[in-house]
Amino acid sequence: MNLFNNKELNNVPDEQLEIEQTKNGIFTALEKLLDLKDLHYIKKELLAISEFEKEHKLIDNYSFFQNDIEQIRNTQTIERTKYYIKRLIKSLKEERFSKINDLDLNKWKQYDDIITDSLWVLDKRDNSGAHNGNYWGNFIPQIPNQLFKRYTKKGEWILDTFLGSGTSIIEARRLGRNAVGIELQSEVVEIAQSNIQKEENFFNTEYKIINKDCTELNYKEELKKIGIKQVQFVIMHPPYWDIIKFSEDEKDLSNAKSLKDFLDKIGKLIDALYPILEKGRYLAFVIGDKYSNAEWIPLGFYCMNEIQKRKLKLKSIIVKNFEETKGKMKEKELWRYRALLGGFYIFKHEYILLFKKG
Ligand SMILES: C[S@@+](CC[C@H](N)C(=O)[O-])C[C@H]1O[C@@H](n2cnc3c(N)ncnc32)[C@H](O)[C@@H]1O
Repeated sequence: MNLFNNKELNNVPDEQLEIEQTKNGIFTALEKLLDLKDLHYIKKELLAISEFEKEHKLIDNYSFFQNDIEQIRNTQTIERTKYYIKRLIKSLKEERFSKINDLDLNKWKQYDDIITDSLWVLDKRDNSGAHNGNYWGNFIPQIPNQLFKRYTKKGEWILDTFLGSGTSIIEARRLGRNAVGIELQSEVVEIAQSNIQKEENFFNTEYKIINKDCTELNYKEELKKIGIKQVQFVIMHPPYWDIIKFSEDEKDLSNAKSLKDFLDKIGKLIDALYPILEKGRYLAFVIGDKYSNAEWIPLGFYCMNEIQKRKLKLKSIIVKNFEETKGKMKEKELWRYRALLGGFYIFKHEYILLFKKG
């Protein structure tokens, strides 16, 4: 393949250059462009490289490469063009990982599945593999999926203090992370066990379920039993106080006697698990608000305040939509009437509060 074949233009090399038919050949061809001074010519040769790559498919993430070349060809100044060429070469040749996930920041454009906005509008729950929406009060798997990809690495440990049907362990297993889950009700532990077993364990991950009250647990001792000292991420999806009654057990947070009692228990739980969360790592708290006696009770913000009293830094308040369920659809008209009559708005969102241990 001949490059640099337009000799009529200024600053155009006399020699003709071959692109070697390897990944390195592409890098070298791109690097050569950095020595040239004619923008029009550089753009022409970028097109030639792009055509060469289209024909031979030497780069792994082919479509991103093509998009980047297209973007570079649309730049207006030679400085900008060269800046983007350098960046493209860097993203192809080098890796840049942070301490808390497996995302290569030099390839950040390729992670278009990772949400970075604070508003999460998720249409449908992921029902693939072992996931099913059968447990009343579960969360959609996309929540742990997003968080685990962003805040953990393969092989690390995640703690879920309100495991329920096992959604977060299924997701951890899928993504190659180990997990500990705590659940008060033994029948629910059985449901979780059976759900988790249905998920293939491609990465040979480990998991453990503890059938106890998470607010009364000696976390250090429990982790010792599985041979670890700390976890790298905590996910908490407690009952939204008494909106759904999960059991008759008085230790169940859905049976907290008052708002104060509920918040005290959340505070106590955060204190108990704080030492076993690794420094610099994250904790996510999933919660919705409540409406009672004609008043909006901002449970989410109350919990946020409670957690902020501890040494955890608030990093994000994510607002997530409630997906429409069949049951809710039937009641839609009734709720609209009630809202108009009562002067309030119908709940359509919940929160994912994200904290970092400094
Ligand atoms: C909102 S659900 C969690 C659902 C879970 N994220 C899922 O996808 O299935 C809350 C769970 O916390 C459990 N729970 C309530 N109080 C608890 C406590 N003190 N200790 C441990 N689990 C508790 C309930 O039994 C219920 O299964």
